Amino acid sequence: MIDISKYKDDNNIYKKIWDKKEKFDSLPKFYNKIIEIDYQEFKEKIYNNSLKEANDIVDSLLSGDIYILKEAFSKAYVERIKVRTMENWQNLQSEFHKIHEGCPNFYRNIDTSLSDKYAFKQVKRTQYFFPWNKDNLNLYKEIYKRWRVLKYLSGYYEDAWEKNTPKDGIVDRIQIVKYPPNSGSQELHQDPYIYQKFFISLYLSKKGKHFQDGGIYLVDQNFKKYSMENIVNEGDLSFGFGTIFHGVDVPIPIKNTEDDEYMGRWWLGIYSTESDYNKNKHTGKPAFK
Ligand SMILES: [Fe+2]
Repeated sequence: MIDISKYKDDNNIYKKIWDKKEKFDSLPKFYNKIIEIDYQEFKEKIYNNSLKEANDIVDSLLSGDIYILKEAFSKAYVERIKVRTMENWQNLQSEFHKIHEGCPNFYRNIDTSLSDKYAFKQVKRTQYFFPWNKDNLNLYKEIYKRWRVLKYLSGYYEDAWEKNTPKDGIVDRIQIVKYPPNSGSQELHQDPYIYQKFFISLYLSKKGKHFQDGGIYLVDQNFKKYSMENIVNEGDLSFGFGTIFHGVDVPIPIKNTEDDEYMGRWWLGIYSTESDYNKNKHTGKPAFK
């Protein structure tokens, strides 16, 4: 078992609050409110360390609120990632690697034939990036600046796990995903809840501009769907408790753009995951099973 306490900072105001308020058996399953806030303003709020504000945000997250941090990344940055990934994928074969020491970045085409190998059904083309590999896309330097704010808010040292490798049991991982038009999807599920509290999304495309419909949704207590895509823009970052049910509906392409790789729904996921040296690795859970 990994000793998680060494990654927590006793002087971190949020750690003290989480220790008091977070109960594993009453974490939120359904979204409550969507809160939109400018990324810079949010960051200042977090590092302000105001006891009142810190308590408020912990309460809000525990109630199931989802935050959208507006303009966390510039449109130009997002654009660059997408275009370079598109170019790279032309020369990559689908592969799979366990997260062991030296694990390379790799591309995997999870089509319908592979979809059942996962804890919950999903169809996507994805590339995984680990911090120990060469970072040709300049992902980690930029993303860590934002990720640290969320690690700090979670009660960890803000640079927790950045230098970890698989032997340490937990590692940072970024994935860039294209949900293929008319087939890409992710069944309604909860993320594994163990080290990273939140599910964190960076939006690389925009409904209405790159695809017509579909994409990420949440559900309320009555399992009524709410599509997040209506209010997010390229460069926005969203997060909320990973235990909140979420899924991805098949993206419906804009007419005659099905074969245009640039179009459609692109997404970037930010996650601190267990390595494959751990026995009984935690995985996500589908909503109905
Ligand atoms: Fe998820």
